[in-house]
Amino acid sequence: MKKSVAILAGSAMLAWVACVWAGEKVAMPKGYERWEKSSEKIVNDKNSLFYGIHYIFVDAKALKTYRSGGKYPEGSRFVVEFYDIRDEGDKPAKGKKNMVVLMKKEKKQTATGGWLFAGYSADGKPSGVDPVKNCFECHLKEAKDRDLVISRYENFKK
Ligand code: HEC
Repeated sequence: MKKSVAILAGSAMLAWVACVWAGEKVAMPKGYERWEKSSEKIVNDKNSLFYGIHYIFVDAKALKTYRSGGKYPEGSRFVVEFYDIRDEGDKPAKGKKNMVVLMKKEKKQTATGGWLFAGYSADGKPSGVDPVKNCFECHLKEAKDRDLVISRYENFKK
């Protein structure tokens, strides 16, 4: 009993330190690789921000609304992993991972439509993007009527 209390106190302390140290930055969700995963999405247009190969991951909370439409419940999460395209003759192949992004439904994020937007480097470090200018504005423009979620379930496995 005593031991578990000590462990609890220890991990709370660690969480607090990590929180203060990282400021507003949010850790990448653990285990997102096991969420529902999209098929491989290839964007061949070099002028596109999305040039490369990406995969969308949806957690169980978000999945229901992703299917049916409507407002997402608090805590819903989406992650996208981005990879370079490696030139291998005729077929584009997956290169190095270059970025990961997260959207998490949080009521308190009033400046960004009730979603937390965060970006990470390939090794999971917060990249310190401006969530309003670098994320929200585009998501608002593209998906105002879909609670800011741009991709569609119909295309998820296509
Ligand atoms: C120029 C427009 C644009 C900007 C800027 C942008 N996104 Fe997106 N985002 C998209 C598009 C388009 C998709 C859908 C991709 C698909 O369908 O495969 C998307 C999808 C996503 C998804 C999956 C859920 C969804 O909406 O489909 C997440 C999570 C995400 N973006 C997070 C971010 C974060 C975090 C930032 C800022 C670092 C950001 N995005 C900046 C256009 C943008």
